[in-house]
Amino acid sequence: MFVCICERVRECEVRSVIRAGARCEESVGEACGAGTGCGSCLDRICDLIDEEKTDTLVAIAA
Ligand code: FES
Repeated sequence: MFVCICERVRECEVRSVIRAGARCEESVGEACGAGTGCGSCLDRICDLIDEEKTDTLVAIAA
């Protein structure tokens, strides 16, 4: 599924760059281009950042 239509970036690509260290919309955009067009996907990118942070914290706590 595409997260960013403007740059044709899939959710799996965004999750991958977040796991690689991108921690804000700007760094995700620098890494894969998502969110660098119209900006309508920025809320979804923020949600993915939050989800990945939560997953990481759960994995650390386990
Ligand atoms: S849909 Fe991502 S920048 Fe437009």
